[in-house]
Amino acid sequence: MVVSVLIKDKKFKRYISAERLQKRIEELGRQISEDYAGKNPLFIVVLNGAFMFAADLMREIDIPSEVSFIKFTSYQNMHSTGVVDQIIGVEEDLRNRHIVIVEDIIDTGITITEVLAEIKSYQPASVEVAALLIKPQALLRPVAVKYVGFEIEPKFVVGYGLDYDGYGRNLCEILILDEPQKPAETKIWTADQP
Ligand code: IMP
Ligand code: MG
Repeated sequence: MVVSVLIKDKKFKRYISAERLQKRIEELGRQISEDYAGKNPLFIVVLNGAFMFAADLMREIDIPSEVSFIKFTSYQNMHSTGVVDQIIGVEEDLRNRHIVIVEDIIDTGITITEVLAEIKSYQPASVEVAALLIKPQALLRPVAVKYVGFEIEPKFVVGYGLDYDGYGRNLCEILILDEPQKPAETKIWTADQP
């Protein structure tokens, strides 16, 4: 049995299996479909990290809905917290729409706070967040996340859309860092930014 997986230069171990992910995403899809029946929601997927979660979540949505994708440009680097410069890709008219933002992971909460502020500036009818993962102990600001897949410990994870320096996005399960993590290393990701 493989206990440790090397991704680039770091060791990771299995954390959330593909089966558990799919089961939880089914539940989320059912709940969102019930909550948004008759509301024609617009799902806004935050690229790149949420691509796999969004693809599976959307297959569980059984009500009329639309999907769109956004991406940030930012000056984020290896050890800094992501500061969003600009969000690109908002093309639809969001005014009076019911929006569900689809995010891979909420760590400090800074990114989603910025995304929420931007989306709200278009005066939608409502905005909620669906995040596959959240690290409650890493949050630096309060964020209301209505749909959460899994609450996880504040350690670096990879797989199922999430990357470590570009690698690991294609894995169908979530792996967690299997070595001591220094505080400065909690931001080793270069994340989705160009
Ligand atoms: P936040 O602004 O600190 O909440 O971070 C949000 C973004 O950072 C996420 O959308 C991810 O792209 C990235 N991120 C945060 N934690 C991790 C992790 O453990 N693995 C991979 N990417 C992460
Ligand atoms: Mg992300």
